[in-house]
Amino acid sequence: MANTSLIGTDLGKARSILESDGLVAIPTETVYGLAGNALSEKAVSRIFAAKNRPSFDPLIVHVGEVSEMDRWALKVDERARQLAETFWPGPLTLLLLRKALIPDIVTAGSPLVALRMPDHPLSLELLRSMDFPLAAPSANPFGYISPTTAGHVADQLGEKVDYILDGGPCRVGLESTIIGFPEGRPRVYRKGGIPVEKLEEVLGEVQVTAHSSSNPEAPGMLKSHYAPAAAFFLGDIQALLKEHSGKKAGLIRFRKEIPGIPEDRQIVLSATGDLTEAARNLFAGMRRLDTLGLDVILAEPVPEDGLGRAINDRLRRAAAR
Ligand code: TXA
Ligand code: MG
Repeated sequence: MANTSLIGTDLGKARSILESDGLVAIPTETVYGLAGNALSEKAVSRIFAAKNRPSFDPLIVHVGEVSEMDRWALKVDERARQLAETFWPGPLTLLLLRKALIPDIVTAGSPLVALRMPDHPLSLELLRSMDFPLAAPSANPFGYISPTTAGHVADQLGEKVDYILDGGPCRVGLESTIIGFPEGRPRVYRKGGIPVEKLEEVLGEVQVTAHSSSNPEAPGMLKSHYAPAAAFFLGDIQALLKEHSGKKAGLIRFRKEIPGIPEDRQIVLSATGDLTEAARNLFAGMRRLDTLGLDVILAEPVPEDGLGRAINDRLRRAAAR
């Protein structure tokens, strides 16, 4: 059972905890973040410890204003500026040359800092009330599914976090898209809440890095991630059901259930085929199935366009074990 006194909407309490190097889980439009003062090594090392996160995996720095780009980053590329003006606040993270004010521990020693302005009224108000930005990874134990409600955070991190600011269920439900400009060319390192097509409307053609467990350009974009405890398989549902017949299976389907399998073991991402709705339902659905003591979770990919590309990416990573 979650400790409910840990959860609330008290911005003053959140702020005073953050000002004394404590940890607060914050709502964003994508997923909940586990936030601490990005300028405090003490606070940031607590984040790594609470998540059990390896120190080579850097953290995103969250800001409350577009103008803060120039406070924390050097030589901001014109295209990065244009992206921030177009998509912030929103699910886009920019990799920029960091200023020395950002401690090494935040970027895992990289010369780049990841910056993002989240689109959630509570967190924006919190960020704007403080004179430091917030380092925040997704508020889940390392390698597990990202939380999309305050309750998910409490279930998994419990007393490891000092307070959970409850902003309701996350509107987007998938992490931010991460883009950088290696050798001056735009490259997406993580597919997320802003579809690549939207970025291309602003930038022209954008390269997309296929996920990998050993890509030094993209630390922490580990291939196996978002993994529920049950064995997870992605493919054609009928073929998977045949392959795993006799096992207690849960299903993740795009539009409709499969007759003959108990309904409570099936997650339908969007009955109307809406990828935005599907993205919002994905992580909560994976979590719900993972509470049922299943042998296997069987999932089918969604159409590979718009947000579907990010959804399929998460499904592939959940299956990559
Ligand atoms: O939507 C989101 O981005 C959420 C919310 C809370 O803002 N945050 C999130 O954080 O997903 P996290 O830590 O779970 O994923 C951040 C990713 C990691 O894969 C990390 O390696 C990468 O961003 N990253 C952070 N800083 C980086 C840097 N300086 N260079 C390269 N990659 C970086
Ligand atoms: Mg994460």
